[in-house]
Amino acid sequence: LASTDVDITHVAEGQAVTVMWRGKPVFVRHRTAKEIEEAKAVPLSELRDPQTDQARVTREPWLIVVGVCTHLGCVPLGQKSTDPRGDYGGWFCPCHGSHYDTAGRIRRGPAPLNLAVPEYEFRSDTQVRIG
Ligand code: FES
Repeated sequence: LASTDVDITHVAEGQAVTVMWRGKPVFVRHRTAKEIEEAKAVPLSELRDPQTDQARVTREPWLIVVGVCTHLGCVPLGQKSTDPRGDYGGWFCPCHGSHYDTAGRIRRGPAPLNLAVPEYEFRSDTQVRIG
């Protein structure tokens, strides 16, 4: 019930897609090796909502997060490569200036928490079921 299947076959490295799940946008991002490396290199002590990259990712290189800013619920920018992605290369919320990193973790600005990781599972190498 209320799950959404996503075909990630055509999401190239460095690209992302947005799908709707239970009325919310979910960001599915095919991270580059550099983005993954950056996410893993951050010491937990630098994080407002400390979580390792590994704890937020089921299968590399895919990062899957709910695209709703944890401040007041705007949709952050960064899904298109031409979007502003903030100071940490992930997403930037233009409403009040929250910056998220390449693991979707809050790094700067008023948002208190990381972008949420929804329930999901890989049904195959190219199919993800959200919810
Ligand atoms: Fe995103 Fe306020 S809603 S910074």
